[in-house]
Amino acid sequence: MMSLVVDCDPGCDDAIAILLALRHANVKAITTVSGNVPLAQSTENALMTVAVANVETPVYAGASKPLKGPQISNDVSHGSDGLGGLHRFSHSRTSESASACDFLLECVSKDDWVIALGPLTNLAEALARDSEWGKRIGGISIMGGSTSIGNITPVAEFNVFADPHAAAKVYTSGARLKMCGLNLTHQLEVTNETVTLISELGTEKSTFVASLLKFLLNRAEKMIRSRWAPLHDPCAVLAVTHPTLFQFEEYFVEVETQGTLTSGMTVIDQRTTRPRLLPNTLVATQIDATRAIEVLVDSLETQ
Ligand code: RIB
Ligand code: CA
Repeated sequence: MMSLVVDCDPGCDDAIAILLALRHANVKAITTVSGNVPLAQSTENALMTVAVANVETPVYAGASKPLKGPQISNDVSHGSDGLGGLHRFSHSRTSESASACDFLLECVSKDDWVIALGPLTNLAEALARDSEWGKRIGGISIMGGSTSIGNITPVAEFNVFADPHAAAKVYTSGARLKMCGLNLTHQLEVTNETVTLISELGTEKSTFVASLLKFLLNRAEKMIRSRWAPLHDPCAVLAVTHPTLFQFEEYFVEVETQGTLTSGMTVIDQRTTRPRLLPNTLVATQIDATRAIEVLVDSLETQ
């Protein structure tokens, strides 16, 4: 079974990704970062999610602000509590005393993959303290960036935009990288049928996930007047636990950190009329969305 560390900013889709990872891998720990919501809330949400899953997975709190530049908050996208505010689960869990960065440096080995679902600040801080860290671990599967459109800006995806300097450090670290950008995650859409299917499972996990999906669809209806929502973060888990569901292409990827209009853009060398720059990332281009939803639903059936 794969051994993973999930670095995240829960976040509705982060919480679903955590449950998916817990079902299909040995999750050594969860590390949290400020992103969708401030650090204290993302940490609380990670603790609640492991409580819902009824596991003892440790949670380590990480960075409360980006490496450089202003802190942006995206809490409108995930509700006031970062998890849609529809379903709270009481628990008495607390995060570990060590920091996320300390855990990443001391406890992630060559057999472990890090699933990065939020701004990449914790990983960049580990690289700042040990520039070889990325090469020493199994790999990093990133939900971030895009080979096409952005979301938080016309060309930038939220996780990369929230800390472009951190993302640039990760993409130039020499680590084995998989990238699930918006070009990929927009293929994995949530529908009313998905919510109904999951609601009918009747477990604590399925009730929780159904509430998260309902929030995402309700938000979509308000924002784009359509009950269509992409499921971003679970893609980065599946890219490691279920790689046969994907098509990947090897590309050179780097991050714009200076651009007035393009800060946070993942610049990907897809040229066809000139030699390309040496690839550094396995970029996911296709996903079998039907099968991915089946895997997600199956993972929620057992308590
Ligand atoms: O752009 C999508 C990403 O931003 C996802 O990780 C979501 O949780 C938000 O953090
Ligand atoms: Ca996230």
